[in-house]
Amino acid sequence: MDVDIRLVAEEEFPAWIRAIEAAFHYVPKDEDIAMERSVAELDRSLVAMDGPQMVGATAAYSLRLTVPGGIIPMAGVTAVGVRPTHRRRGILTALMQRQLSDVRERGEAVAGLWASEGSIYGRFGYGVAALSASFEIQRDRSIFARPHRSGGTITLVDRESAMKAMPGVYERLRPKQPGMLGRNGSWWEYRFGDLKDWRDGATEFFFALHRAEEGVDGYVAYRVKHDWKGLPKSVVQVREILATSAETYADLWRYCFDVDLIDTIETWGRPADEPLLFMVAEPRRLGLKLSDGLWVRLVDVAGALAARRYREDGRLILEVRDGFLPENEGRYELQGGPDGAECGSSRAEPDLVLGADDLGATYLGGVRFSTLARAGRVYERTDGAIARADAMFGWDPLPWCPHVF
Ligand SMILES: CC(C)(COP(=O)(O)OP(=O)(O)OC[C@H]1O[C@@H](n2cnc3c(N)ncnc32)[C@H](O)[C@@H]1OP(=O)(O)O)[C@@H](O)C(=O)NCCC(=O)NCCS
Repeated sequence: MDVDIRLVAEEEFPAWIRAIEAAFHYVPKDEDIAMERSVAELDRSLVAMDGPQMVGATAAYSLRLTVPGGIIPMAGVTAVGVRPTHRRRGILTALMQRQLSDVRERGEAVAGLWASEGSIYGRFGYGVAALSASFEIQRDRSIFARPHRSGGTITLVDRESAMKAMPGVYERLRPKQPGMLGRNGSWWEYRFGDLKDWRDGATEFFFALHRAEEGVDGYVAYRVKHDWKGLPKSVVQVREILATSAETYADLWRYCFDVDLIDTIETWGRPADEPLLFMVAEPRRLGLKLSDGLWVRLVDVAGALAARRYREDGRLILEVRDGFLPENEGRYELQGGPDGAECGSSRAEPDLVLGADDLGATYLGGVRFSTLARAGRVYERTDGAIARADAMFGWDPLPWCPHVF
């Protein structure tokens, strides 16, 4: 494919966003472009040029990912698009090659992304490391199974107060929750951006803070989409709900479920082990659906495996297949436990054979090797190796990424 891949210049940024959005059949306004610029890193923003025409793009954000036992740098891949006129000619493949080699040069051991379609990124070595749950429940079906008594106070606050209070809650949870990503001020603004086109006819955000004795210990940010033809049929759309205790979690959901003039409460981006399933009296009425959330790609296999902690002490020889980044391909000896890990290349016979995408899937401790073996993706060469790998890699809590980028 005869295209030139290079960094995008500051003055080209609006045209670059328009080119990406054309791939999504969206025409951005100036305010969209300004919002994207607030989080973009131009030295990581790539454009594919066909002569004078921008025909493809990808970019990365320098993010901080919580992994089992620590926090590491992650390249957050975004802004992936190829013009409809230039698709299926290898432009994305070329962009992915260039991007992953940049990521490696920067010393980031992992890359991560949210996918528009599940079929795109496996070939580039990404695997689904964190699942994401969504649900939609009728308000009159949202009764809890156990009696609920509120343990704090909930206050509706303005945006400015919310923006000051929410990060404190987020930061209390982030260090121990694999899959969570650090957010700076621009990211908080982006996450709760209220551009008219982003609201799809719903209200601006409402912010409710939960306070217990020690101060703010939870929040919910939601919109309401009005629908009132004779009977109230409006929908509460929960964008984010975070709580530092089970009691606060229950209080905040009870608040969402009990808002008047509402018919339905809907949300997505919830954890795979969403506790609400066990809180409501009719779990089926939650209509919980699981899908792919954060995709993870190990760019430096040894570096990534050494950077996390393991639930149990153990040693594994992993044979990794990596067609897209052949420098990763080979055998690795991993020696890891709760206090640290080492990983390097090895000539020993492998315990497990698997693809880089599968290793990416298991990396955050939520996807079991045994599940992937049953899916015909991971092969056991030494008896008991899959059970050992599951005992080592598994983690509590399950990975969850509430930050979409
Ligand atoms: C996804 C997208 C970027 C792919 O770009 P592209 O330049 O056409 O991709 P490539 O030509 O490099 O394709 C490489 C391979 O992936 C496959 N592929 C690419 N996009 C695919 C898709 N959406 N679904 C299924 N397969 C896809 C191609 O068929 C090709 O397979 P092959 O090597 O076996 O022939 C482009 O279709 C697009 O812009 N889509 C809309 C925007 C979007 O969804 N972006 C991703 C955001 S996360």
